[in-house]
Amino acid sequence: MENRKQEEKEEKRVALQTPRGEVSIQGPVSTHLIEKCTFHHELANFRPPPRQKEALIFIAGLPEGMVYTALYGGSIIGYTTFHRPHKFSRWSRHPRILELGTIEVAPEWRRYGVGKKLLEVSFANPSLEEYVVITTEFSRHWDLRGSCLSVWQYQKMLTKLFGTVGMQQVHTDDPSILEHPANVLMVRFGKNTGARDRLLFAELQFEKEGSEARAVRVT
Ligand SMILES: CC(C)(COP(=O)(O)OP(=O)(O)OC[C@H]1O[C@@H](n2cnc3c(N)ncnc32)[C@H](O)[C@@H]1OP(=O)(O)O)[C@@H](O)C(=O)NCCC(=O)NCCS
Repeated sequence: MENRKQEEKEEKRVALQTPRGEVSIQGPVSTHLIEKCTFHHELANFRPPPRQKEALIFIAGLPEGMVYTALYGGSIIGYTTFHRPHKFSRWSRHPRILELGTIEVAPEWRRYGVGKKLLEVSFANPSLEEYVVITTEFSRHWDLRGSCLSVWQYQKMLTKLFGTVGMQQVHTDDPSILEHPANVLMVRFGKNTGARDRLLFAELQFEKEGSEARAVRVT
């Protein structure tokens, strides 16, 4: 366990060439690194940028929290986060679930492969093989206007993007997912998770009495 914690926090760095210059994809980053970096003023998809920066500092400081950043110069231009599910969420009852909370790239840096590289670098962390990683994608958070995509095109773009690191779309009766037909739950079972982890996940997928389609994969 100690070794796993060590690996989890050991920072990796990868350079990504983009038409706007070289971006450093790195993580898991320390709270200190986030504090000292400027935060791109258009990283505003989820919260106003100063509040989102505070959220990243908070997550980076959690025992099982991890933040990966895309840095250009001293500025964070993209990030992705991992943390334990919120205590009121059904997924928190699974001891090995880690939630990929958010991924965001500043609009002027999008479509240069930054999002994909953030996922590639973070999922190369061997500690993620110990976890059942989930992501709950809510269409109300999607940048439909900025992307010029319909809600279904955006869903397809995201499921393909998360699919690049082995995440798969699955059914659930979680009311927050069922709230909108485009919402998606995706999961990836780390190589070192076992049958018990899969069973417990399947039990959490469908909690309503009489749910039939237990653990059915969508795609
Ligand atoms: C989703 C997001 C992180 C993608 O970041 P990005 O750096 O633009 O992603 P990439 O450049 O790595 O592109 C990944 C793939 O998605 C495709 N894609 C991304 N944006 C697209 C768009 N607007 N239209 C069509 N395809 C798009 C890319 O072409 C690429 O596909 P490919 O691998 O087949 O070439 C970014 O759009 C974003 O920050 N959106 C707002 C926040 C959000 O919706 N987060 C997800 C929910 S948590």
